[in-house]
Amino acid sequence: MSMSDRVEVDKSAVVNPNKTRLRRLLEHFRRRKLIWIISFNILIVTIIVIQITIILVNKNKRETTSATLSTTTLLTTTTSSTTRGQLISCVVTNNNTKWKKNAITIAGEYGQGNALNQLNWPSGIYIDDDNQSIYIADSGNHRILRWEFGARRGEVVAGGKGYGNAIDQLDYPLDVVLDKAKKYLIICDQGNRRLVRSSRQNSQDQQILISYIFCWGLAMDNNGDLYISDYGTGNVRRWREGDTEGTVVAGGNGQGNELNQLNEPNYIFVDEYYSVYVADDRNNRVMKWKKHATEGILVAPGQVSDKNPNLLSRPTGVIVDRKGNIYVSINGTHQIWRWSTDAIESDPVVGENLPGSGSAELENPYDLSFDRQGNLYVVDLSNHRIQKFFIDLDCNKF
Ligand SMILES: *[C@@H]1O[C@H](CO)[C@@H](O)[C@H](O)[C@H]1NC(C)=O
Ligand SMILES: *[C@@H]1O[C@H](CO)[C@@H](O)[C@H](O)[C@H]1NC(C)=O
Ligand SMILES: *[C@@H]1O[C@H](CO)[C@@H](O)[C@H](O)[C@H]1NC(C)=O
Repeated sequence: MSMSDRVEVDKSAVVNPNKTRLRRLLEHFRRRKLIWIISFNILIVTIIVIQITIILVNKNKRETTSATLSTTTLLTTTTSSTTRGQLISCVVTNNNTKWKKNAITIAGEYGQGNALNQLNWPSGIYIDDDNQSIYIADSGNHRILRWEFGARRGEVVAGGKGYGNAIDQLDYPLDVVLDKAKKYLIICDQGNRRLVRSSRQNSQDQQILISYIFCWGLAMDNNGDLYISDYGTGNVRRWREGDTEGTVVAGGNGQGNELNQLNEPNYIFVDEYYSVYVADDRNNRVMKWKKHATEGILVAPGQVSDKNPNLLSRPTGVIVDRKGNIYVSINGTHQIWRWSTDAIESDPVVGENLPGSGSAELENPYDLSFDRQGNLYVVDLSNHRIQKFFIDLDCNKF
């Protein structure tokens, strides 16, 4: 068969040899051209595929952040007027909101130490959403660090000169906030029993605001008034610019477990109605003191019974979302628990029941904070690190 075919072709070749050669040549070039076109197309397709893969990979990496950002922008428009100080995320967190089980370490991933990429018993934090950074009371290093999100190390913004009581020294600071204008850091210099103010612009500009105070937690309300918990006398006081005494807004009736008392209050939170929430550490409870109240309301645990034993074991940090859900870091169970408004039961939102240093674990959680996107930041005291739990947007769709 093939032989006869060939013969045929040869025959025609004999008929007009020149024309056939030309045709063959053209054919040859056409084929080569075709091969070139095909190769070129394959190349283009390959490049496009590679590009798409790169984009997808990057998108996946940034998924959480960008998705959150867009939701936030949406929600910010309606709620921005009340957003300030420690006043929470604009994302409407509710009693179904979940956070990713595994956190990322945003500061202190190199273990306990005094290098700039390490922490030593961190205690209090303050999130500066506008400048995408976190301020950390790095207690054991007697310094305050400012750590930009994503940075590999922090920068010392106060203290860091060994412990001592010189004006530029700190002694085991427990908390830090920025004032409303973000010009000053206000620091609970616990070991020196004083509250100090340090200028962000001029490191020489430092001032003792209050002396002889066993301060622990700090909070600032929408007006820029400062709230300070005093574990020595068992109260929370509010200080307005120029105050010399301050006003007791929670406790103030000696250390004790009555509703009008507190016992070694730790971190505090102030909501937009000027209600003060207090982690009442020694009483194993969280109290809410409304503005002008003469006694507090027990908000966690809701109701203690055999079915619902008091799960609070040394609550240290407390924050509240826009729906009034209360989040408590529990030093003794290494978890963050949520009490929905009026709920009797609570549920753990992050952390395992046992201490550990894995990404889903905590050991002695302390201060807490949300950022505007609703991500949850936890001071992981005994792991000497700050953990960020991303809000799980997939779980928040309705
Ligand atoms: C925060 O950001 C503003 C504007 O981007 C800048 O001027 C300011 O110095 C920053 N503050 C700190 C404390 O980094
Ligand atoms: C937290 O727990 C640790 C370890 O048990 C303990 O040393 C520390 O005093 C506790 N802190 C508070 C504020 O409860
Ligand atoms: C959760 O929120 C919904 C609506 O906001 C409410 O009906 C429900 O009672 C809440 N659950 C708890 C346990 O508070």
